[in-house]
Amino acid sequence: MSEAGATPTSFTPRVFSGIQPSGGLTLGNYLGAIKRFVDMQGPEFETIYCMVDLHAITVWQDPEALTRNTRELCAGFIAAGIDPTQSILFNQSQVPEHAQLGWLFSCVARMGWMGRMTQWKDKTAGKNAEAASLGLFAYPALMAADILVYHATHVPVGEDQKQHLELTRDIAAKFNHDYGVDFFPLTEPVIEGAATRVMSLRDGSKKMSKSDPSDMSRINMTDDADAIAKKIRKAKTDPEPLPETLDGLKERPEARNLVNIYAALADQSAEQVISDHAGQQFGQFKPALVDLAVDRLAPISTEMARLMNDPAEIDRILGAGAARAREITAPILRKTYDIVGMVPPPA
Ligand code: AMP
Ligand code: TRP
Repeated sequence: MSEAGATPTSFTPRVFSGIQPSGGLTLGNYLGAIKRFVDMQGPEFETIYCMVDLHAITVWQDPEALTRNTRELCAGFIAAGIDPTQSILFNQSQVPEHAQLGWLFSCVARMGWMGRMTQWKDKTAGKNAEAASLGLFAYPALMAADILVYHATHVPVGEDQKQHLELTRDIAAKFNHDYGVDFFPLTEPVIEGAATRVMSLRDGSKKMSKSDPSDMSRINMTDDADAIAKKIRKAKTDPEPLPETLDGLKERPEARNLVNIYAALADQSAEQVISDHAGQQFGQFKPALVDLAVDRLAPISTEMARLMNDPAEIDRILGAGAARAREITAPILRKTYDIVGMVPPPA
């Protein structure tokens, strides 16, 4: 083991997560990610949240839209309750160590690992994979760098990111093994709560997504009270009443989805929601869900709109967050280069 590798085996409890500024925020992003980011702020962890603009451009982004979406995402984080003086909030491209470590990890990760990623397979399915960007293929190596350039120990995400986090552990383990060090932590995914996979309001077998062509399939964080109410009222359901137990929802994905959304918004378990609403028809349950959703979401969209009126203030927050982030990333990258054997600049 080299001298450079004589590093501590215990790591500061540190949370990192990221969201792509590739379109508007959905209720899936809010319940599966941002709301949980807010819940993890506190004395237990250092919390670091990133707008991953470098990931967004693995597929084409109109430059003006990318700028607007990055600011809007930042406004969404803050409106939902992320405190930028407590958490570190910034956009990825302002912290160059992400891309730098990403390159090293592109040399650690194997082609075969990348080719097995379901997100890569889904995004290229039925299309010409030869025409996909190289960045889209390498995406998970940059994601591993996002996390490990902080030595982050915990990563809250939705269910769809599970495989990428397993790959992050594989990259950390291979780096540690190849260089004979104990330098990168094996990060814990945090995939918890009632809504780690929010489904489309039109089709219970599809994930709610900002890229779905139908706007009725999702609730956007910028939707006003009327839009939220209309989308929930029109959400696909079935003619049966709500059952007595969760087991009764097994073959009813649309019903299950609305129960999960209710539970996550109300900070309750899905079991609790079922026992409180057992026997109700959707004609009764949907209005209760509309009231709850409007109560929780409308103040966030109002606050987002207010913050978006002052883009200079958002840019200031992102810049200040990036400066704080670099205090952590610069020494970790320097140490990584040292382990790899890169000659440093003279002191
Ligand atoms: P993305 O918008 O793809 O960058 O996703 C950002 C975060 O939101 C990730 O943690 C995702 O797992 C989470 N997420 C996105 N869509 C959903 C969904 N429909 N249900 C739950 N979590 C989601
Ligand atoms: N791949 C994630 C998504 O699409 C976004 C992401 C990039 C991320 N880097 C990350 C999430 C690091 C968690 C940690 O949702």
